Amino acid sequence: MSVWEAMEFLNELVDDSDPDLDLPQIEHLLQTAEAIRADGQPRWFILAGLIHDLGKILCLWGEPQWSVVGDTFPVGCRYSEKIVYYEAFQQNPDWHNKHYQSETGIYEPGCGLEKLMLSWGHDEYLYHVVCDYLPAPALAMIRYHSCYPIHREGAYKHLLTGADQTNLNWVRAFNRYDLYTKRDEKMNVSQLKPFYQDLISEYFPEKLAW
Ligand SMILES: [Fe+2]
Repeated sequence: MSVWEAMEFLNELVDDSDPDLDLPQIEHLLQTAEAIRADGQPRWFILAGLIHDLGKILCLWGEPQWSVVGDTFPVGCRYSEKIVYYEAFQQNPDWHNKHYQSETGIYEPGCGLEKLMLSWGHDEYLYHVVCDYLPAPALAMIRYHSCYPIHREGAYKHLLTGADQTNLNWVRAFNRYDLYTKRDEKMNVSQLKPFYQDLISEYFPEKLAW
């Protein structure tokens, strides 16, 4: 499936975790990308905006929404109380595993963001699909945009490195567009399509581009 086909396919999905979105998914992707473009950001930044939620197509292949959408968080160490619905972890078998519930768990202190195993979701899935094709900041935006406990709440600092702040700053820069571009304004999909097809071809090999 090409990127554009995936965008059209995703249109069938209604994300139950999204509180402020009556829009079809393709509109949200285009609104995010257009807001980034209007601010004169680099082309890879616009592309990250366009595709960041494409991993949600997992839901359309039968994955339950709880394992695809919603916030992500590190597994294998103590759950931060800043994770949304923290109390629900009591029903997770890891809650009763002392090793997994210690401060650092399966990790070394300061091991860095890349070494953390995050809960599965649309971010992680799409990251693995596109990791060979996009620059590091775009990959950070895609991989960590739902990891609110880290990029918004500042949790898990003891597992991060100083260098992670650079990537997290990109994620925060991206997040402003993701949250604040959700409006009811209609996007002219057919008018915008040529620009975005060009952008997709610039970064992705033919098999993904068309
Ligand atoms: Fe997302």
